Amino acid sequence: MSNSYSFEVINIKGKAYIRTYGCQQNFADSEKICGILTLLGYTIVYNDDDVDLMIFNTCAIRENAKDRIFGNIGALKHKKLKNPKLRIVICGCLTQQRDIAEKVKKTFPFVDLILGTNQLNSLPELLAGLFNGSKHGVILSDEDEPIAENLPVVRDSKYKANISIMYGCDNYCTYCIVPYVRGRERSRSAAKIMEEVKSFYYEGCREFLLLGQNVNSYGKGTDVNFNRLINYIDNIPGDFIINFMTSHPKDLTKELIDTIADSKKISYRLHLPVQSGSDRILEAMNRGYTRREYLELINYAKSRIPGLSLTTDIIVGFPGEDYADFSETISLMKEARFDSAYTFIYSKRPGTKAAELPDYVSEEQKSIWFRELLSVQSKIGEAALNGYVGQTLRIFCTGKGRSDEKLLTGKSRNGFIVDFPGNDEKIGSFVNIKIIRALNWALIGEEIK
Ligand code: 5AD
Ligand code: SF4
Repeated sequence: MSNSYSFEVINIKGKAYIRTYGCQQNFADSEKICGILTLLGYTIVYNDDDVDLMIFNTCAIRENAKDRIFGNIGALKHKKLKNPKLRIVICGCLTQQRDIAEKVKKTFPFVDLILGTNQLNSLPELLAGLFNGSKHGVILSDEDEPIAENLPVVRDSKYKANISIMYGCDNYCTYCIVPYVRGRERSRSAAKIMEEVKSFYYEGCREFLLLGQNVNSYGKGTDVNFNRLINYIDNIPGDFIINFMTSHPKDLTKELIDTIADSKKISYRLHLPVQSGSDRILEAMNRGYTRREYLELINYAKSRIPGLSLTTDIIVGFPGEDYADFSETISLMKEARFDSAYTFIYSKRPGTKAAELPDYVSEEQKSIWFRELLSVQSKIGEAALNGYVGQTLRIFCTGKGRSDEKLLTGKSRNGFIVDFPGNDEKIGSFVNIKIIRALNWALIGEEIK
């Protein structure tokens, strides 16, 4: 299949609704799906009543995501009965797994089309077929398919753009399904990425999120590594913020930390999943670093980057984890003082290495540990937010307030959400905000003229 994209506009008139589950990568894919549908003549709607096409872009990372999606697909049966012309498409990581795709087909015969993760290129053709009466069933692509370039996008926000810089993952952390559903690591060309940044900037976008499962290994084997790429982007003229995720501690270099510290526009927020504080568990997870190496890395980052904000992911209850291991995770959290942590109870993913490991700890016990983790982290996070009261932060304003519709909202260079009073003219610009109080998930402030 070619990796450039050409459109034959088939001009279907109708309303399309897309529901996205999971990570930023899925949201970025859905923006492309919206772009394709818009070009085909669809109107994208945000309410699933009375639509002609429904697409569920699914996630497979944990079992509860799967259960929720299955429940939601089941609920579509009555919609199809009410409106037999409705076409239903299920795609993404969940249905990239053949056994699950077959199960969806069998359990939900009213679903018209089941796709995997790499079919954006063929979407117009597949949809045209659907509306011409053919029923495709399950179509799964090769997970390592070349990257489809030049796909249209309809972005969720005028001011923020997700830019995928790479796809797939080669790390095979033993708990993780991603390498099996997103395929091997493939990086986009730096020239294409730069072109995209410049054109979105020209359209008014001021916040870019560079996306990949492990951005630090971008360009592996070529002469443009992530450090160079981000440096190039930092040197594009204009006032904007460059965010990136996700970083992997084994591949994040001190050189990259220096680049961030010396940059003009790179975000001072680092999302650096640690997963566990126990060396034994880190090894069993195949993470490729030790607790000491992780702590050294973040200490270096904190010493180099002023106002660095650090966030992480943590898994509780990995097979074989005991209370001593869990306590190491708690102690690491206290030492690292993350501004926030995404915490998960281990979920067994069939087909991964960890799924074969014996697991002696009960789900009840894991829930108790999980709640302890949340409570430790919430105190640390709260203290971090309160530490900003009285400080002035430069905020990029992106829209209406999250805490209150009457306020505006934006983000600081180190990734904190800040709501403040102001009129709509501020949306799309940078403002200096003095922080007057902290909620438990955001800051509230006032503009300094
Ligand atoms: N169980 C629980 N959490 C998981 N994650 C990935 N796979 C699993 C799993 N099987 C978490 C990791 C990862 C985040 C995106 O999801 O913490 O960093
Ligand atoms: Fe999964 Fe590990 Fe790859 Fe992240 S780095 S996507 S956790 S395999």
